[in-house]
Amino acid sequence: MIQIPKSEYARRRKALMAQMVPNSIAILPAAAVAIRNRDVEHVYRQDSDFQYLSGFPEPEAVIVLIPGREYGEYVLFCRERNPARELWDGLRAGQEGAMRDFGADDAFPISDIDDILPGLIEGRDRVYSAMGSNPEFDRHVMDWINVIRSKAHLGAQPPNEFVALDHLLHDMRLYKSAAEVKVMRSAAEISARAHVRAMQASRAGLHEFSLEAELDYEFRKGGAKMAAYGSIVASGRNACILHYQENDAVLKDGDLVLIDAGCEIDCYASDITRTFPVSGKFSPEQKAIYELVLDSQEAAFALIGPGKHWNQAHEATVRVITTGLVDLGLLQGDVDALIVGEAYKAFYMHRAGHWLGMDVHDVGDYKVGGEWRVLEVGMTLTVEPGIYIAPDNQSVAKKWRGIGVRIEDDVVVTKQGCEVLSGGVPKTVAAIEALMAAARAEAA
Ligand code: GLY
Ligand code: MN
Ligand code: MN
Repeated sequence: MIQIPKSEYARRRKALMAQMVPNSIAILPAAAVAIRNRDVEHVYRQDSDFQYLSGFPEPEAVIVLIPGREYGEYVLFCRERNPARELWDGLRAGQEGAMRDFGADDAFPISDIDDILPGLIEGRDRVYSAMGSNPEFDRHVMDWINVIRSKAHLGAQPPNEFVALDHLLHDMRLYKSAAEVKVMRSAAEISARAHVRAMQASRAGLHEFSLEAELDYEFRKGGAKMAAYGSIVASGRNACILHYQENDAVLKDGDLVLIDAGCEIDCYASDITRTFPVSGKFSPEQKAIYELVLDSQEAAFALIGPGKHWNQAHEATVRVITTGLVDLGLLQGDVDALIVGEAYKAFYMHRAGHWLGMDVHDVGDYKVGGEWRVLEVGMTLTVEPGIYIAPDNQSVAKKWRGIGVRIEDDVVVTKQGCEVLSGGVPKTVAAIEALMAAARAEAA
């Protein structure tokens, strides 16, 4: 399976430490285990920042980065080996494994952190940590600082500056390396196969969850441990609920089904949406709305590339969709005035995309100094325009009501413009209808 190479984690730590001020220290905790019920845990997912800097997959661990430290700059606190626990819960790296397999210069048992970490912090001027996102860990950090303060009369020097690490780290995460793009391409390819499988399996009378099962099958077969977010399988008017989650309605002939789903590979997300007819053939109204969304997505792709700013793609989708809604008689008036008045928001109420990476809605600022961010090579984002006509929208003819269409792809900014990572799922009306017809013919 395609993964981020170990050498890349070392490079990231070095790059972060190069940006930290002299005589500083950074401290990051692993994600906590979440209890699902009593003795059952949720599937463990490492914290994205922690994963980004270490690739270390275990809970109960803390990364400490100390640029310039004589005895090693990268210290990892983690669980000790424990044959009895490992028999039940699986292998642990232990301190030896942390150094041998995960590049730590020094490793200590997590149970010793209260004794050791204050000594590592002492004498450093500045502490970088993810302040605010993990109140319990923030309290630990203050406890360690207070240990040092309590020894001030003995000459101990507590740090004076506490700085949020996010700013440095999240900017790094925004620019994907070749290795990251490779992992994301693989996640998108597996997800594309999952969408194709769901289209091929679609039949009236099945449930939305039947198609979700087809997605899950391809995700797991492709090596994904889990979906990057709860899959949305929304048929008929359910497609007008943007984050529909029930996935339990019966698929009806004549309806569309909107599937928004993507898997996660090595902690990198994919995020793909396709909308197709349950029985394989678009009605004229469905086709008109679908092709309008598709045109708006094409217009957005043309405005993604180095030197273009973040909002240009969104603005392009707004213009195409507003113009098209007027042409179809769903909006009335002057296109420019309708855009200024945001009339399109009754049908298109979300933005055209978001950063994509380790988090499905990834980190990174959208504005810099009050201006939309200018795109650069290696940034990855989704392009996901949609039109949703509320089932109770009395201001449009009945034939349009309850149609919901979104088309979402994942792209990386390249020197030439952008590369679509999720192109493996058909998207034109003709290609979708042909794929579904072939699947039905084969099954017959
Ligand atoms: N699946 C959530 C989104 O598309 O942003
Ligand atoms: Mn999505
Ligand atoms: Mn998305």
